[in-house]
Amino acid sequence: MRFTSEFIEQVRQANDIVSVISDYVSLKRRGRNFWACCPFHNEKTASFSVASDKGFYYCFGCHAHGDVFQFVMARENISFSEAVERLAERAHIPLPEVEKSAEDMARDKKRDRLYEINEMAGNFFHNCLVKTRYGEPGLAYFHRRHLTNETIHSFKLGFAPDSWDKLTRAFEKKGVTGQELLEVGLAKEKNGHYYDAFRNRVMFPIRDGRGRIVGFGGRVLDDSKPKYLNSPETLIFNKRHLLFAMDKAHKAIFDEGRAILVEGYMDVISAHNRGICNVVASLGTAFTEEQARLLQRQAKELVLSYDMDTAGRQATLRAMEIVRGLGLHVRVVTLPQGKDPDEYINTAGPEKLREAIENAPNVLDYMLMTALKQYDDTTLDGKADIVAMLIPVLAQEDNRIVLETFMKKIAAKLQVDENAVRNEFNKYVTAHPETRQQQVVISRSVYQENAAVRGKGKNAVSEENILRFLVEKPEACARMRELVVPKFFTSTARSGIFEKILELQATQGTYTLADLQPLLTQEESGELARIMVLPEVPMSEAVITDYVKRFRLAELQQQYKEYSARAAAYGQQNDPRLVETLAMCKKIQNEMKRWA
Ligand code: UTP
Ligand code: MN
Repeated sequence: MRFTSEFIEQVRQANDIVSVISDYVSLKRRGRNFWACCPFHNEKTASFSVASDKGFYYCFGCHAHGDVFQFVMARENISFSEAVERLAERAHIPLPEVEKSAEDMARDKKRDRLYEINEMAGNFFHNCLVKTRYGEPGLAYFHRRHLTNETIHSFKLGFAPDSWDKLTRAFEKKGVTGQELLEVGLAKEKNGHYYDAFRNRVMFPIRDGRGRIVGFGGRVLDDSKPKYLNSPETLIFNKRHLLFAMDKAHKAIFDEGRAILVEGYMDVISAHNRGICNVVASLGTAFTEEQARLLQRQAKELVLSYDMDTAGRQATLRAMEIVRGLGLHVRVVTLPQGKDPDEYINTAGPEKLREAIENAPNVLDYMLMTALKQYDDTTLDGKADIVAMLIPVLAQEDNRIVLETFMKKIAAKLQVDENAVRNEFNKYVTAHPETRQQQVVISRSVYQENAAVRGKGKNAVSEENILRFLVEKPEACARMRELVVPKFFTSTARSGIFEKILELQATQGTYTLADLQPLLTQEESGELARIMVLPEVPMSEAVITDYVKRFRLAELQQQYKEYSARAAAYGQQNDPRLVETLAMCKKIQNEMKRWA
């Protein structure tokens, strides 16, 4: 054990359990104890209690329990010694230094100094923004971007004055050397001369998970380039391990079980500014696995809200790949083209953004949507491109049920045979063993599949061919309307498709598959998909007339059967209606002869 029991007790004494747990959940006093909804399981009524005098917590729902160290270990997913360190630091108790090498100690000292200088710089920029005339353009800028003073304060936003040495000189007076400023990225050097690195920019302090300032981003006030300058990486600033605003967002992320990842500082701040607090950003670099892990500790769900442009889509794809295998459920917000979350919040309002978040499609649906936007799904090439785009994403899906369902969905959407999609999937996973995916079964042949779905009706083949013909040759529709009666279709799906085709023809004269698709129910669209991929039968009017004939004949046969049954019954009962019924049978028979 790294710490003595005296030290551990000292840390425990210095960290009131109620105050520590309050960093994570909102506790309410009831009787002698404090209560909250349990942070370790999902619940609506508070069964999590904290006994402040005893220093323990207990959940009456899930029986989670322990002391202040165990709470921090469980919540932060860290070891006991890490929890002790964390809480010692929280209470400003120096860690016992016995085991530290001189090197470690020097590094710790250096770190502390960097934190200190950054904290001073944070104050310097903030005061400049809110208290001096130099900061006026910056303050006006933030107000123009709809930030409240409260937000400006809580993020400690700042302004770097339009000067070469205001910060450098002020800090020298406070005993911070140019060399130190250089190291932390606040100054630059030329010919032994130090000058301010950030000038005439609004400043965004970047904090680590514990709220310490580790760096800055500085934005120009106009359209000049570069838009943002960022502190370089230092001993305390590692972009791969940080998420912007995680120190503020972690509680909301945990409470909602969901984190929203955006691209920019301003997207984060605007969201917090309007009460959406579970929002963080990666720092102008690609989303990393370390960042994903940070989020995964707090939430089960990650909602990506990147730009909808090409770069944003690429970033979304990369982020989805990073998250894969971490067990985070991912969804993707799609905002109107060209809008980032900041603009959307300020034009449409926070409620609209919330709505977009609630309705965000999952990864596969998002990809399907994107693919359908990118390619023309009415052409064969387009269909192939869409499948080619979706398969690699599909190959990342671990859940077989999701996988199977989605293949059906692709097939139905594109009106292609599901087995064709399955085939492509299998080809892909064979070529990419790193996906560690198993092949999907192509269990039945197209023919068997068809026979099963088609049903027993003798008419089915005619119906299928008539529908296929009508979809391909809208000009034949008017004639077909005269010959084919919807109610004699032997499947409601097929008669539904037929009626909708007639409807389109009646209202708009001609039609395309694209017109038809949105009118179909799910069942009808599945049936049409099946029909459209049937093995090609050459289609000509003559062939179709033949099908219509058969269709018509079958219809007449059915009528004949009905009438002759009725006639037989009337005959037995001496019913006078026998005569007219027999006449009807005769008529149907003649009609049948005419068609045969
Ligand atoms: P954006 O260009 O989307 O900026 O870059 P933004 O945050 O929406 O800012 P506004 O709305 O134009 O004011 C997204 C993020 O990429 C990083 C920053 O972290 C920024 O927030 N970035 C961008 C840079 O680091 N440098 C740049 O020059 C541009
Ligand atoms: Mn923006």
